Amino acid sequence: MNKTKQQIIEKTKEFVLKTLENAEAGHDFWHIKRVVKTSMEIAKKEGGDMFIILLGAYLHDIADSKFHHGDESIGPEIAKKFLEKNKLDASSIDHIIKIIENISFKNTFEEQKFTSKELEIIQDADRLDAIGAIGIARAFVYGGYKNNLIYDPNFKPKENLSKEEYKKGKTATVNHFYEKLLKLKDLMNTKTAKEMAENRHQFMLDFLEQFYLEWGEIPG
Ligand code: ADP
Ligand code: NI
Repeated sequence: MNKTKQQIIEKTKEFVLKTLENAEAGHDFWHIKRVVKTSMEIAKKEGGDMFIILLGAYLHDIADSKFHHGDESIGPEIAKKFLEKNKLDASSIDHIIKIIENISFKNTFEEQKFTSKELEIIQDADRLDAIGAIGIARAFVYGGYKNNLIYDPNFKPKENLSKEEYKKGKTATVNHFYEKLLKLKDLMNTKTAKEMAENRHQFMLDFLEQFYLEWGEIPG
């Protein structure tokens, strides 16, 4: 990768670090760094343009709509302004914006409008970070942030959440496993990520088994 590209990546990293300084723990800069690392790992096996993958991975959660009253346009706008200021060429900017617009799980409720190898890879890395031990930790952090119950045996998970229900996020966190986390393994785009998802998925099943065992039967 040439020097200018390296410099843009460094600047992007600094910008994201600063912007996410006070982010909720499940979406903090460490989440971004994990997604960058996993994206690179997947790309080594699957190919793809490393420059676009790195920029997309760094910028993918720059303004999550969850924390902006559901507004899905703020993230792409912030990223666009930043990349234009840093004189990235128009076609790369366009690609990165499309990645940010299309990466989120909430888009699985609608037909995805755009795809590319680079998007597929970052999306897989983002989804891998939502499952396994780290995924469990993130889910409970998010549940705590929303003041949700960890579990309520009286409320069964909803088979088919609407996009709006998903975005509201009012569910016992154990239900979130059925509403999203356990579905992710089969939604991986690349073969490499599918393989990586296997033991993380199994770990969540083991976790749930132990959870129910400890919970046992609690009357009414
Ligand atoms: P994406 O990053 O694909 O848009 P989200 O932003 O919806 O996905 O989710 C980010 C993190 O927050 C993930 O780890 C996800 O599992 C968790 N999360 C989202 N909704 C809930 C919820 N209702 N309860 C617990 N965790 C949640
Ligand atoms: Ni993310």
